[in-house]
Amino acid sequence: MLTPQTSLGIDDIRLGDVVFWQLPENEREGAFAKLRRERPVSWHEEFEYPGLPKGPGFWAVTHYQDVLTASRNPQRFISGKGTSIGDMPAELNEFFGSMINMDPPRHTKLRLIVNRGFTPRMVAQAEQTVREKARRIVNAVCEKGECDFVTEIAAALPLEIICDMMGIPAADYKRIFELTNTILGIGDPEYAMTVEELMAAGLELSQYAQQLGQERLERPRDDITSKLMHAEVEGEALNAAEFASFFILLVVAGNETTRNAISHGMRALTDFPDQRRKWQREFERVAPTAVEEIVRWASPVIHFRRTASEDCELGGQTIKAGDKVVLWYNSANRDETVFVDPHRFDVIRDPNEHVGFGGGGPHFCLGANLARREIAVMFEELFRHLPDIEISGEPAMLLSAFIHGIKRMPCRFTPRKPLEDGCRV
Ligand code: HEM
Repeated sequence: MLTPQTSLGIDDIRLGDVVFWQLPENEREGAFAKLRRERPVSWHEEFEYPGLPKGPGFWAVTHYQDVLTASRNPQRFISGKGTSIGDMPAELNEFFGSMINMDPPRHTKLRLIVNRGFTPRMVAQAEQTVREKARRIVNAVCEKGECDFVTEIAAALPLEIICDMMGIPAADYKRIFELTNTILGIGDPEYAMTVEELMAAGLELSQYAQQLGQERLERPRDDITSKLMHAEVEGEALNAAEFASFFILLVVAGNETTRNAISHGMRALTDFPDQRRKWQREFERVAPTAVEEIVRWASPVIHFRRTASEDCELGGQTIKAGDKVVLWYNSANRDETVFVDPHRFDVIRDPNEHVGFGGGGPHFCLGANLARREIAVMFEELFRHLPDIEISGEPAMLLSAFIHGIKRMPCRFTPRKPLEDGCRV
């Protein structure tokens, strides 16, 4: 159980100030609890980025029900004006202006191109690949007795899976990993602090995408890049910028989120050994609820933004047309009016209609089924082969208001010989 507490007065909670995101986790939780209690929809100044004009400010939506309402009303709360708190400079649009920043009907048409690759059936078909990769990742560390949990275990699986789905060769995994880290790590001095650094990563990934796209245009294969290159929307192929931004969205989203769910999950299972025992005793039975609880607990994506298209009311607050409205999934996932003991990690929590993958509506996470499988299979392989694995030191947290990220985190376990491929213990 984590105990949220804050010494901040309600007017001193500044979600658009980087100082807030440097506070310890329980103090941030305490501040969000205070917002939910006292001012569920509150106004905040925006972050300041060097070289960019400061935006007009935003409404912070902290209650579960209001996050659902905004997510499910895409006509009133639109995505087409951007889903990050700060407005994207036009030159970044070419790299990041993908379907997540679009509204129906164009959003619907673009999403349809790739939707079929992520259905439960397709994910079930990919199960064997996910398992083989997870096993190889565990085999690669099992004799060491200790390693970095994030880079050597948690990050490796989603990275390899999304790269394979896109048709990216193994030799390029490492560079893709670095570039997506830079893109979602903006604001953390270890990754990127300026728009120029973000631009450079976007440009490199975009050029990479276009080169791969050209190869697949000439020689299609069974991968998403080939599908995108040969797709038509309203009778036209995607142009280079549309294709590249689609590619970037999938690679970034597929790789930077699930890793944090797995890392936070391992940390919680170490901190709450009774929950771990419960899951290890009956893996299959508990897995479905444990995976949902890990995503709720981790809330790997902290927020997305919408913009009000008309004057309206949300959570008792008047919102003007054009106002930015930010949906704080982390807060909705701790809403005490919805979740019993929200600060308790409970692998058999039921019901658990969390908003870790979004609050429903047209942008609901495309990769949710895939992410759930990756998380379940990774823990199954870990428990099977390294049953006493545990986190052995403090995590290095990503400094971000957007991604609840862990950069590095040591773990230890009793060393074991690698399992032979395909064998079951
Ligand atoms: C635990 C892991 C993950 C979490 C917590 C997560 C979370 C989210 C959230 C919160 C959204 C926005 C939902 C909304 O606006 O309503 C989203 C959208 C999206 N996610 Fe995920 N995601 C995860 C894994 C993945 C994976 C593995 C992929 C694979 C490609 C993926 C692809 C996407 C895409 C493409 C969108 C945009 C969908 C659209 O605009 O229609 N995500 N995700």
